[in-house]
Amino acid sequence: MAPVLHADGLTRSFGSIVVADDLSFSVDMSECLGVIGPNGAGKTSVFNILAGAIQPQSGKVFLDGRDITACSQFERTRLGIGRTYQVPRPFGLLTAFENVLTAATFGGGRKGREADNFAFEILDRTGLVGRADMAAGSLPLLDRKRLELARAMALTPRLLLLDEIAGGLTEAEVGQLVELIVSIKKDLAIVWIEHVTHALQAAADRIVAINTGRKIAEGLPQDVMADAAVQEIYMGAMLDAAAVG
Ligand SMILES: Nc1ncnc2c1ncn2[C@@H]1O[C@H](COP(=O)(O)OP(=O)(O)O)[C@@H](O)[C@H]1O
Ligand SMILES: [Mg+2]
Repeated sequence: MAPVLHADGLTRSFGSIVVADDLSFSVDMSECLGVIGPNGAGKTSVFNILAGAIQPQSGKVFLDGRDITACSQFERTRLGIGRTYQVPRPFGLLTAFENVLTAATFGGGRKGREADNFAFEILDRTGLVGRADMAAGSLPLLDRKRLELARAMALTPRLLLLDEIAGGLTEAEVGQLVELIVSIKKDLAIVWIEHVTHALQAAADRIVAINTGRKIAEGLPQDVMADAAVQEIYMGAMLDAAAVG
């Protein structure tokens, strides 16, 4: 059976900045692929290519074996690609419930009572039922992250793209998020970009490390984290940050 997602030789640059360099990877159903790499490595841009927000200069994206490279963002949402954004993008004045309902209705194609029930079910699964009537813009950070996940889940995606949803959370909150992601993985393929590497090690089945759009390591989480090239890049990034800070 074809993997849910297959990225084949994705290549893209913005002027001299390379965000994808002959990048290939696959994700199966019920699998969570972690993506790591320093800031500016091209991770979010790769999500933009997978979601159809930007086009690759070469390479293809396959969903369930079907070439979707030419499909629009909207078509890809309908075909089952859900994503969260690094900076949460809820409709701030709508309630948490209304945000999830909007996704269930417009992206997920549900109507009336069925959409209402489904939206509540998602709020329940993401631990947001108690906040259903709060304006999304007034939610604390963990709940905004949960809402970002809830909106993507309301699309009933086959492929879920998570962009740094653990950043800024406390250790206990990261633990809750990992638990939630592991609990939804059965019916999905997940790609999770994350700097909080211990969260990835707990949830991901495999990790791909990228730098300047190029894959530098791929394998079991513990092997990739121990990889010499990965350690060098992370140490380098930390030294840069220390020099700036
Ligand atoms: N639409 C764009 N136009 C020009 N440059 C971009 C665009 N999107 C991203 N970039 C640049 O590409 C590089 C990689 O960005 P990004 O994919 O967001 O990296 P990451 O998510 O790994 O931190 C950055 O230098 C960023 O400024
Ligand atoms: Mg990013």
